[in-house]
Amino acid sequence: MEKVTMKDVAKEAGVSYTTVSHVINGTRFVKPETEKRVQDALEKLDYRPNSVARSLRIGSTKTIGLIVPDASNLFFAEISRKIEDLGFKLGYSVILGNSDNDSKKQTNYINTLIAKQVDGVIFIATGGDVEVLESLHKNNIPVVIADRDVPLEFADVVLLDNETAGYEATKHLLDLGHKCIACITGPNYLSSSSKRVIGYKRALKEFGIPVNPELVRSSNFRFDGGMSTMTDLLESDCKPTAVFVLNDMMAIGAMAAIRKAGMSIPEDFSIVGFDDIELSSITTPPLTTIAQPFDNLAKQTIELLVGRIQGDCGDDHKRIILSAELIERESTSEKGNR
Ligand code: RIB
Repeated sequence: MEKVTMKDVAKEAGVSYTTVSHVINGTRFVKPETEKRVQDALEKLDYRPNSVARSLRIGSTKTIGLIVPDASNLFFAEISRKIEDLGFKLGYSVILGNSDNDSKKQTNYINTLIAKQVDGVIFIATGGDVEVLESLHKNNIPVVIADRDVPLEFADVVLLDNETAGYEATKHLLDLGHKCIACITGPNYLSSSSKRVIGYKRALKEFGIPVNPELVRSSNFRFDGGMSTMTDLLESDCKPTAVFVLNDMMAIGAMAAIRKAGMSIPEDFSIVGFDDIELSSITTPPLTTIAQPFDNLAKQTIELLVGRIQGDCGDDHKRIILSAELIERESTSEKGNR
């Protein structure tokens, strides 16, 4: 079926091509009765504007790319929703790409966003090679790195102070009298995991407790990884009485493993998570966790990117570090007499 053109609309409405263009783009006043004829023709013919042609004319597609590593992780679902909402309010459509923790897919999405001539990209790394981000720079597409640090000179960065957050989570358990505290990490090539582990170790050192490598177990930031890793820890000779889990998805999995081992939380075992996804306030018991500043992270990220797109951000690239907050709920208590 032939694509409906503006010429077809002009013929249907009995007006000039230019009049149709003015009605579609709002570039000049058109008499109400004429505008109604054009609107009726647009509707009758189901005219769809050519977005590529339009963007070439106005030099902007009014679209932003957002790449996240795992759309099934509620942290990314919640932060994506907030970024999309703010972007839309500023007049930008947000195209979401899920790299699914796969660096090849991550590269594919970057190339797709370049081909679609997005105005800017917000990038949450899945790891792997980030050379492809250079091609965004070569195409004059501004990039904001969010949440996970990536060593790039040409990008603005918005991160969490993960080291302090990891320290606070661990100190909370130490203050409750726990001395044998396990740590279930994410992939440690990611800054959001490795920095939290540094904070965990700093807190233990401050309390004079040596780090036992057997108690620090690497996992995958997913529910299944938290469950299987917690099971391994409980079956080991370590006998922890508490665990700091580096994200809530794994913490919820770890809670299932603790219960499966016949223990109750927090009477027999204390657990602290990280992110404060919505689910964490309704787990049984509600999870003590570190709350990520979702609203501020989305706000800083979007405002930096739109500022870059519109050219009113100056030349120096920004590096914004946000704070997190410990949310005490019911999954931690004083070390029992286990
Ligand atoms: O839940 C996913 C984790 O990886 C979050 O803690 C977030 O910081 C991301 O980096």
